[in-house]
Amino acid sequence: MLAGEQLVEEYVRAHPGSQKLHDRAVKHFAANGATHVVRILEPFRPYITHAKGSRKWDVDGNEYIDYIMGHGALILGHSHPAIVEAVQKQMAKGVHFGESHELEVELAELIKGMMPMAERVAFFSCGQEANMMAIRLSRVFTGRRKLLRFEENFHGWADELIHEGSAGILADEVSIIPSNDLHRVEAELSKGESAVLLSEGGGAFMNGRVPIDLDFVRALPDLTKKNGTIWVLDEVVTGFRDAPGGWQSVVGVTPDLTTLGKCVGGGLPIGAVVGRADIMEAFNPTTPPERRVVHSGTWNANPLVCSAGIAACKLYQDGEPQRKARERADYFRKEGNEVLKERGINGRLYSRTIVHLYLGPLEFEPSDDTLPPTKDIEKIMNPKMLPIQSRLCLHLLQRGIAAFDRGLFVLSAAHTREDIDQTVQALADSLDAMVAEDTLGKELING
Ligand SMILES: Cc1ncc(COP(=O)(O)O)c(C=O)c1O
Repeated sequence: MLAGEQLVEEYVRAHPGSQKLHDRAVKHFAANGATHVVRILEPFRPYITHAKGSRKWDVDGNEYIDYIMGHGALILGHSHPAIVEAVQKQMAKGVHFGESHELEVELAELIKGMMPMAERVAFFSCGQEANMMAIRLSRVFTGRRKLLRFEENFHGWADELIHEGSAGILADEVSIIPSNDLHRVEAELSKGESAVLLSEGGGAFMNGRVPIDLDFVRALPDLTKKNGTIWVLDEVVTGFRDAPGGWQSVVGVTPDLTTLGKCVGGGLPIGAVVGRADIMEAFNPTTPPERRVVHSGTWNANPLVCSAGIAACKLYQDGEPQRKARERADYFRKEGNEVLKERGINGRLYSRTIVHLYLGPLEFEPSDDTLPPTKDIEKIMNPKMLPIQSRLCLHLLQRGIAAFDRGLFVLSAAHTREDIDQTVQALADSLDAMVAEDTLGKELING
C-alpha cells in the first residue's frame, strides 16, 4: 500500500458510522454527499451528533476540537448555557408569531448600542440576504445600477455576489476590481455609475485571508461620498467577532450601511442591514412607490433567533468573549508557527481570531503575525496548495482536530489553552506524517 493511502484507510476504519451516512448522503446530495461546499472532503467528513464548548463528537464516538465553529458564527462556542436557556424558554413560548414582538426590538436596541452607525435596523435570515438588500437599497437611493466590489472578497453565492467566472454570475451590472488599489477605485467611482461599493470587513475572505491595507479602507468613506456612491461594509464575519463595535470600530471608519450575520444570531440563522436612516427610509410605507423597497421574508426576526441573538449580544457588549478568542488565537499562532519554523516548513499561521495557514514561499518574516509572510495575493490564494491543505485537514481530523480544509481555524472564547496545546501537537504530528509520506511537497520544505 502506498504511504498516502494508509491515512485514508485508517480514517475509514475509524469512521464506520460516518461512512454509512456518507453512502446514504451521496444518493441525495450531488456535491459528493455534502450540503455545503466546504463540507466536501475525500473520503468524507465526520457526521456529528452533538457539540459542547470547543468540542464536538461524531456518530462513531470520535471527539474533535472544533475549528469550524458554525462557519464563524459561534464565538461563544457550542451550546453556550445562556443561549441554550434563552432558546429553550422561547421554544416553549412560540417560534413564530407572524406578528411584531418585544424580542426583535430588544435585539435591535442591543445592536444599536454596540454599533453607533446603526440608525436603522432590518433583519433577514442570513448574511447574503442582507448583502442583497443593501445593494437594492443603494440602487434605489442613488438611482444608479452598478455594483462595485473587490476580488477575493466573499459576500455569498447569489448571482451578483459569487466569484467572477463562476457559473451563474450576473455580470452586466457588477464590476470586480483588485482590492488595496485606491487609484482603481477612484477611476471606477469617478465614472459616476456605481450605486454601491461593497467590501468585506477584516480583509478578504473570512476575516483576512488576504489582508486589507488600512489606509486604503480609511480612504473609502470620503471617496464614495465624493462620487455619490453608497459604501456597504460587509461585517457578516467580523461583527461582532472583532469587537463590540465590529471591525469598523477597530479601524475607525463609518460605512453608510453595514451588513451583519453569523455571530449576531448567537448560532441561529440571521442577517441584518444597519445604517443610515435616510437610505433605509425606502422601507417606509409612505415612501413613494418608485423609491420604496419591500421587505418580506418568512423568517425575518423570528422570536427563536432573536432570543438567541439577545443572549449572545448581551455577552458581546463588554468585549470579553472577543478578547478571549483573540488571546487563544494569538497563542495558537505563536505555538503553531514554532512548529513550522522548527521543521523548516515554508508556511505560517496568521490573522486574528480566524487563523489562516499560508503555505508557500516566505518572502519575509512578518513582525506582526496577523499578517502573512508575502504580499502576493496569488501566492496566498494559490490553488495548487488546496490538495495539500485537504491532506492536512484529513490528518488533523484523524487526530481529533476539525478545521476547514483550506487551512482555516475559527477560534472562539470556548477554546482553552489545553485545546490549543493539543491542536499544536496534532499539527506537528500531521506535518511530520506528511513529510514521511511525501505529501507535503518538496518546495514547502527548506533545505
Ligand atoms: C464576509 C461574508 N459575507 C457574507 C457571507 C454570507 O453569509 P451567509 O452564509 O449567512 O448568507 C459570508 C459567509 O461566509 C461571509 O463570509
